[in-house]
Amino acid sequence: MSHVNQHISQLREDFMKSELSENGIQKSPDLQFEQWMKNAVESKVNEFQAFNLCTVSKEHKPSSRIVYLREFGDNLFYFYTNYNSKKAIEISLNKNVCLTFFWPELERQIRIEGTIEFAEKEKSDAYFNHRPLESRIGAWSSPQSNPIKDRNALEQLVEENTEKFKDQHIERPEFWGGYKITAHYYEFWQGRKSRLHDRIAFTLENNNWKIERLAP
Ligand SMILES: Cc1cc2nc3c(=O)[nH]c(=O)nc-3n(C[C@H](O)[C@H](O)[C@H](O)COP(=O)(O)O)c2cc1C
Repeated sequence: MSHVNQHISQLREDFMKSELSENGIQKSPDLQFEQWMKNAVESKVNEFQAFNLCTVSKEHKPSSRIVYLREFGDNLFYFYTNYNSKKAIEISLNKNVCLTFFWPELERQIRIEGTIEFAEKEKSDAYFNHRPLESRIGAWSSPQSNPIKDRNALEQLVEENTEKFKDQHIERPEFWGGYKITAHYYEFWQGRKSRLHDRIAFTLENNNWKIERLAP
């Protein structure tokens, strides 16, 4: 066994920081999400707005990657990306997605399941227009998820677009914008001692949130 394999097979760390109970949890998951988000901001959790987004292909093959949450509220979650990317192609064929946040500093995980659609065009425009110049040019220049010849080819596209858009307003490309996820399931996970973690799930049933504790 390699040194690293031996190391990870023997690693045992207890989670001791906090607990989550049916009494302490908010009655609606978007409020609970907001509260944990606030805790993450206050605790300066590294990359707290990054989440793992899982999509599923037409052939039922899942794929996942990290993206940044840019807005949330009322059980809606927004992120921005390229509409020709691998994730976008999968989304166009299957609207079911799931999101996972992991905040080691707080020993917390949040899992969310929902359905996805394009964000409102005005929202995508507003978000794009507030991005730094380099990011706007980057969006125009990257054929995200497609093979490219080499690093140079990408840098050349950036150079060409920098020249093309010099002293001009840069419109949001049609192929770039936001997605909006509507959540119908949440699970809040708080690490506890001896792997006896707290897990509280909210499932939307007939417009009501059913709350259940799950075994760790
Ligand atoms: C911390 C972090 C944040 C990221 N945020 C985004 C994002 O907001 N939007 C995005 O398109 N890609 C983001 N990426 C890159 C994606 O993980 C991924 O490489 C890219 O979206 C292409 O994914 P796809 O080929 O599955 O479509 C981020 C990566 C990391 C590590």
